[in-house]
Amino acid sequence: MQKENQKLIGQTSIITGSSSGIGKAVAIALAKEGSNVVINYHSSKEEAEEVAQEISEDKAAGEAIVIKGDMSKEKDVLNLFKTTIDKFGTVDVCIPNAGMQKDAAFHEMTLEDWNAVINLNLTGQFLCCREAIKEFLRRGMRLEVSKSLGKIINMSSVHDIIPWAGHANYAASKGAIQILMKTLCQEYAHKKVRVNSISPGAIKTDINKEVWDTKEGREKMKETIPYDKIGEPEDIGRVAAWLSSDESEYINGTTIYVDGGMTCYPGFKGNG
Ligand code: BGC
Repeated sequence: MQKENQKLIGQTSIITGSSSGIGKAVAIALAKEGSNVVINYHSSKEEAEEVAQEISEDKAAGEAIVIKGDMSKEKDVLNLFKTTIDKFGTVDVCIPNAGMQKDAAFHEMTLEDWNAVINLNLTGQFLCCREAIKEFLRRGMRLEVSKSLGKIINMSSVHDIIPWAGHANYAASKGAIQILMKTLCQEYAHKKVRVNSISPGAIKTDINKEVWDTKEGREKMKETIPYDKIGEPEDIGRVAAWLSSDESEYINGTTIYVDGGMTCYPGFKGNG
């Protein structure tokens, strides 16, 4: 029972790391617009199935399937795409979102923690983008569903531009995503592929729960947010759905900061 104003009818979207947090909200938002969605998880099968269940309860939503996979592993990424294409025929939207933090003072950071973050946050996005673009080119244009050949939204962070002491591996991975995204735009825009990033600020998810879980932590966090509000995963979901749709057709090679103004460096208000 699709509704006429849904923006992603007939399309299929892969959202990695979508059993919780931002990925979950993005998957739900895209499904609400009529897209079939692939819920990818690494360890929490139950949570992933709950997301698929929630989507299936909305009769106007697209279909959701669940696929396990560690996005830092090439064979898992290949399996994610193959299973999706076998099931839905193609992929229209790819949102590499799976990511992690392994924080440490830089002089104490182990190579293992450096590699773990780079492998998932950056190499994982490389693998997903490569497979997505390969599929867009194989499939060719389907003007009946979208004006673009395919859409990629790299899930980045405000720390692709704001340095972050104690999180060098994470900030380096996100900074690299920014130039990866722009390079892919430069390389494939002529084929009508759209590649953009969303850079969330402080959004309430498990990744930063330790901070927002206490009153003191929340107050400290809010000092970095001019809008004086910690974001919710749905704030990202809504932007991702719009950025996946033809309503944003002419946006390509851009980062959208969804951060309540965090990138406006509030520490400089009245200072400097
Ligand atoms: C990090 C969060 C942090 C936020 C703002 C995100 O990319 O994963 O832990 O709260 O940036 O600093």
